[in-house]
Amino acid sequence: MSQKTIAVGADHGGYEMKLDLTVQLRDMGFTVLDLGTDSADSVDYPDFAELVVKAIEGGEAERGVLVCGSGIGMSIAANRHKGIRAALCSDEVSAELARQHNDANILVLGERLIELPVAKQCVSKFFSTEFEGGRHERRVKKLG
Ligand code: RB5
Repeated sequence: MSQKTIAVGADHGGYEMKLDLTVQLRDMGFTVLDLGTDSADSVDYPDFAELVVKAIEGGEAERGVLVCGSGIGMSIAANRHKGIRAALCSDEVSAELARQHNDANILVLGERLIELPVAKQCVSKFFSTEFEGGRHERRVKKLG
């Protein structure tokens, strides 16, 4: 069976954290599709949200991670797309619930709002937690 692929993207506000989380995801055994940005130079977060969304829509990646300064811009941008459930998480409980209840397919983090160890906990939970289905399935379907 092929390794699962995770698409990652960030703007300049999330660039440093993306570097660390990319290493973590590879250590967890995922193939990482790093869609930029590739430096701390100022860029526009919707462009990178779009790249990650397209990778998921096109089947090149199963899920994604987006990082910007607050996480807010990235989550707004990603959630404009049908079938995308991007969850802005601030701790491992929110990351776990985003998977269990919401079947979130993109984890969004704010580099300027949470510390790296917390971000790593979010990644760890998000990518090891299954969707619970059941009553949550009905609710998630209504989002579509
Ligand atoms: C960039 O300065 C900042 O606005 C961006 O990273 C993000 O926080 C937007 O929501």
